[in-house]
Amino acid sequence: MDKNVVWHEPTVTRDRRAANNGHKSVILWFTGLSGSGKSTIAHALEESLYQLGANTYVLDGDNVRHGLCGDLGFSDADRNENIRRIGELAKLFIDAGVIALTAFISPFLEDRQKARELVKEGDFIEIFVQCPLAVCETRDPKGLYKKARAGLIKGYTGISSPYEEPENPEIVIDTSVSDIDECVTQIIAYLREQNIIAPASQDKAVNS
Ligand code: ADX
Repeated sequence: MDKNVVWHEPTVTRDRRAANNGHKSVILWFTGLSGSGKSTIAHALEESLYQLGANTYVLDGDNVRHGLCGDLGFSDADRNENIRRIGELAKLFIDAGVIALTAFISPFLEDRQKARELVKEGDFIEIFVQCPLAVCETRDPKGLYKKARAGLIKGYTGISSPYEEPENPEIVIDTSVSDIDECVTQIIAYLREQNIIAPASQDKAVNS
């Protein structure tokens, strides 16, 4: 960074935004294999949070790779850069008072750790979307596992590129055992326990 770049302190702070919104902002970092259900659960959770009146946004791997990360492929270095950008982007979202839900494979422990360290303790909630590879492969919603098995895609996560499981995630959901509603309920319960969103007794459905 150039030494003449100077940080400008805002008057509308994150705390003021949280007070105005009636909830805190955090990063909900979904990680897991392709086909594990990251995007599905993130969007279902967003729907529930939205109906509770929360400000949310889902950053989704396939979508972000159409724009901001459209110059990146799937080499280890490109995945490092993909996750670095998403970490920085999610940090801006929480500064804006938004609950940022990120749905990226994010296969490397070190990359996720770096994203975690960009923000304060408690701001980064890692959600391991656990699902056996065999189940993900059976689902194969985009037909990419089939192509990877046929050798048509090099370096496919789980097949020919590693996935490093989280060692100490805040939340683990297993989409091969629990359905979407159960996973959403589990995460909402965690957010209430941590006082990120208000307790159920204060619920008022405001958005439709
Ligand atoms: S990450 O590894 O950099 O976190 P990201 O979540 O952005 O990956 O993108 C994963 C999506 O890209 C997959 O769901 C799949 O649709 C597609 N994809 C294309 N090629 C690959 C590959 N080699 N490995 C994994 N996913 C791939």
